[in-house]
Amino acid sequence: MEIDVFTLFPAWFEWFSAQRHVANALARGHRLDFLDPRASTPLGAGQVDDTPFGGGAGMVLRVDVLDAALRARYGEDPVAVRARRRVIALTPGGRLLDDALAAELAAEPALTLLCGRYEGFDERILEHFVTEQVSIGRYVLAGGELAAMVLCDAVLRKLPGALGDERSAAEESFSPALEGAPEYPHYTRPAEYRGWAVPEVLLSGHHERIRSWRLEQSRRQAGPARSPGPL
Ligand code: 6GU
Repeated sequence: MEIDVFTLFPAWFEWFSAQRHVANALARGHRLDFLDPRASTPLGAGQVDDTPFGGGAGMVLRVDVLDAALRARYGEDPVAVRARRRVIALTPGGRLLDDALAAELAAEPALTLLCGRYEGFDERILEHFVTEQVSIGRYVLAGGELAAMVLCDAVLRKLPGALGDERSAAEESFSPALEGAPEYPHYTRPAEYRGWAVPEVLLSGHHERIRSWRLEQSRRQAGPARSPGPL
């Protein structure tokens, strides 16, 4: 998997890239690169954004600047780039990231992520350079960087070999193995603490009973009280 992140703040990702699970993915041959549109801007003084036509607050990322940045990276027209790889703009109103989308993206050989700032992207970027818009929730962040990290984290941990124990990925919250439900509860030592005992079945060594108890717990957590309401 090769992920290119276009961001005006590549330094934000240094911390993320240094985290053990991310570093492990990179050591296994996956790639995570950061491209700063400021480095390839055709405008003077490192300009990348501009005031919105029609007036209003904030600044808008320019289409010519993104065109140059994508061209510098891929050596071809970004309109052609999007025909052969998924180019995702992180926007608050995009398709909501969930387990199914993370799994879908993890199956791609390459992804391009575009992080907007301030008021966002010139609409022509979204129309012509991008295959889709993704959001991590219905609230507004100052920019797409944190959302891109969330997306990368969710995708990287789906890659084969990402976790020490492959079963943890297959059977985690919202996975098909758990029928899309949240994960069952976990316990560890001590078996009793302040009178709070671990469910007996987990200490029984009965793998079949444990398995059905976990599925039952997982289903119970998916019940009306904890499931998300309609959007
Ligand atoms: Cl992807 N971007 C921004 N700026 N805000 C968000 C978001 C993305 N997802 C939720 N809020």
